Amino acid sequence: MNFEIKPGSFSGQSKFLNYIGGQWVPAKSGKTFESLNPAEPSDVVGVFPASGPEDVNAAVAAAKKAYENWRLYPAPKRGEILFKAGQILIERKEQLSREMTREMGKVLAEARGDVQEVIDMTFYAAGEGRRMFGQTVPSELQNKFAMSVRAPLGVVGLITPWNFPMAIPSWKLMPALICGNTCVLKPASDTPLLSHRLVEILEEAGLPKGVVNVVYGSGREVGEPLMAHPDVSLISFTGSTDIGRRVNEACAPSFKRVSLEMGGKNAIVIMDDANLDLAVDGVLWGAFGTSGQRCTAASRVIVHKSVHAQVRDKLKNRIGELKLGYGLNSDVKVGPVINESAMKKILEYIEIGKGEGADLIAGGARDTQAGAGWFVQPTLFDNVKSTMRIAQEEIFGPVTALIPVGSFEEAIQVANGIQFGLSTAIYTKNVNQAFTALRDLDSGLCYVNAPTIGAEVHLPFGGTKDTGNGHRDAGTTALDVFSEWKSLYVDYSDKLQRAQIDDLS
Ligand code: UN1
Repeated sequence: MNFEIKPGSFSGQSKFLNYIGGQWVPAKSGKTFESLNPAEPSDVVGVFPASGPEDVNAAVAAAKKAYENWRLYPAPKRGEILFKAGQILIERKEQLSREMTREMGKVLAEARGDVQEVIDMTFYAAGEGRRMFGQTVPSELQNKFAMSVRAPLGVVGLITPWNFPMAIPSWKLMPALICGNTCVLKPASDTPLLSHRLVEILEEAGLPKGVVNVVYGSGREVGEPLMAHPDVSLISFTGSTDIGRRVNEACAPSFKRVSLEMGGKNAIVIMDDANLDLAVDGVLWGAFGTSGQRCTAASRVIVHKSVHAQVRDKLKNRIGELKLGYGLNSDVKVGPVINESAMKKILEYIEIGKGEGADLIAGGARDTQAGAGWFVQPTLFDNVKSTMRIAQEEIFGPVTALIPVGSFEEAIQVANGIQFGLSTAIYTKNVNQAFTALRDLDSGLCYVNAPTIGAEVHLPFGGTKDTGNGHRDAGTTALDVFSEWKSLYVDYSDKLQRAQIDDLS
């Protein structure tokens, strides 16, 4: 099937509203902003409320009220609502994927993957409604019962990025909901539509009013008031390290729990014994998938010098075959970047790379042939030194850097020699080397013979160093973010028993 759809040919609603206390409402100020198609910026995807602190206050108040009942709603019943939502997501997958390509730019196959990740996370979290295991342990005293359970936190604030417009909101919403929290979601202003769709689906699935609220708008006008609000117990944020640091600082005075998922400068290591064609496939997918706009993107390729020239030449050829364009067209492999300022930043980094003396092997410019949107050619630098800025800083675009090294030890050292620690990969057939790398690579995700992208929802997702603050999205670890542990003791001896003091002998 070919999805040659002209921009603007989507029909239906184009004005969208905040969702507060189960009502669709405009920003109190009446202000709005537009969401644009990055492949064709004259195509306005939708008009959304440009909300402010007063809208945040209303949303938090609604979430606080809804919490009274939601926390008491049995977790398996919460799960039933999520299962229903998962079913609706399956039915709408194609339509949601196309809307995502239009609003975010990622090619349709990847948009389908994003929606699939939402489906996976929704079912995974729904199943937790019947598990959510705590511990039952023996007591050190007779006739005393000891166990721990998860308790919800209350109202949680979720601040999500544009690169996974539905998957990342689902990574936060679904575990938050199954644990019994109520939510205020602030999606990225570049991709509000897919959060809107997710919440519509949750409403349709029967989520009680006020349990999820969405407030659209800027970080300053919506994100900051959410962080400062005394009735918000937690902020879960995915975005850049710079903004994450500000989130952390803003939440520190009130001791809010903060879960941060931030930048990456992920490396694929290619050893001399690797299957080079497989490694090249991995680099193309890892570096240029989502136009490099993943926090897991492979923006460094650390290659053993004995296969360096081969890898470079293979990559150069294959990059030439990547077709840029509007992601709804079936032959397009690389879509636009998200907006004009992102494009400018990426192009600036390309100039920085040239200025630092790296060799530009492929790409290196805006592609105006691909369309009127924000297209940047997939770009490869060679002979990059690990100290160069293009090897250290997150570019968040279709740019990758080949860094030749002389040994396995040097490869690991270079891979680890950055401020971030999200994802790393090694291509090798040597099992000893593979396991040594898995042990020594300092990152939250490690892959052998697969690229740095492609995490699955049922394992922890997150990173070390400046990538995170110790929390993890996804997996059962997401439950740790969205719940408090409560230890419960029941003494049925009918007498005073003193732990650590009474002697049973
Ligand atoms: C992100 O890059 O922000 O592992 C998330 C992956 C995806 C998620 C990426 N499943 O690349």
